[in-house]
Amino acid sequence: MIEVSNIEKSFDGTPVLKGISCVFETGKCNLLLGGSGTGKSVLLQCIVGLMKPDIGSITFDGTVYTNSKIDIRQEIRRKIGMLFQGSALFDSMTVAQNVEFPLQMLTPEMTPEERRERVEFCLKRVGLEKAGDKMPAEISGGMKKRVGIARAIAPHCTYLFCDEPNSGLDPATSIKIDELIREITHEYGITTVIVTHDMNSVIEIGEHIIFLHQGKKLWDGTKEEVLNAEVPELQEFIFSSALVRAAKKVDDESVGGLAALTESVDHGGGI
Ligand SMILES: Nc1ncnc2c1ncn2[C@@H]1O[C@H](COP(=O)(O)OP(=O)(O)O)[C@@H](O)[C@H]1O
Ligand SMILES: [Mg+2]
Repeated sequence: MIEVSNIEKSFDGTPVLKGISCVFETGKCNLLLGGSGTGKSVLLQCIVGLMKPDIGSITFDGTVYTNSKIDIRQEIRRKIGMLFQGSALFDSMTVAQNVEFPLQMLTPEMTPEERRERVEFCLKRVGLEKAGDKMPAEISGGMKKRVGIARAIAPHCTYLFCDEPNSGLDPATSIKIDELIREITHEYGITTVIVTHDMNSVIEIGEHIIFLHQGKKLWDGTKEEVLNAEVPELQEFIFSSALVRAAKKVDDESVGGLAALTESVDHGGGI
């Protein structure tokens, strides 16, 4: 479990995060939901340590991360996997070399043979067992995301952070990437944090949703609760989606459209 407590962050005197407290639950897909420019990526970067918050603290499974000694911070960092927004693969490396890279950095005790086996395992897990020798330029956007996921989980991460994992993908590929993230989260009991503004992801994988608006947390709950949450800013955000509006209309005519929408994609907890 990751606990974020009263985080504040300003740039040149302009506050971006205005005292955010929230919890990311272990073994679940935790969604940071909100419109563009609300501070989702800044919060994510503060949590993983790429940015320093002005005020507040972050705790990983009981260990304080903010302002801790370097060895404690490094120990936590080793457990963090990150899927960057544009996948951020190294263009000059093959797919397999990309996945091997964090193993070379973080687990020098592994032999080349062990690393090769781990890379093979992770590529197979994301459905890319045949793509190891390809270059990033030769594969599709969805495959790049899969490589990014394989690279993030290669060093056995405990915490997985994904910034807009669906950006630039078509709807069908987006769902497959969402499903893969959910499966891996459950399979390995990872604490996963996904930044998104995509209502499809909310309905697909939103086990715990935290809604941010203008640098503040306005609501948190489950995907079953989100559609009926009585927070005007959240309602406005949700019902800007035509699909959700249509489901709500059916629901108002008491046919259970919203329930059907969330239940139809509830594939059950484990895999
Ligand atoms: N490094 C930075 N320097 C100055 N301003 C920043 C920086 N990073 C983000 N911001 C500002 O913080 C706000 C929130 O950005 P961001 O967290 O990227 O939003 P989003 O919710 O879309 O991910 C934006 O107004 C953005 O311009
Ligand atoms: Mg962002």
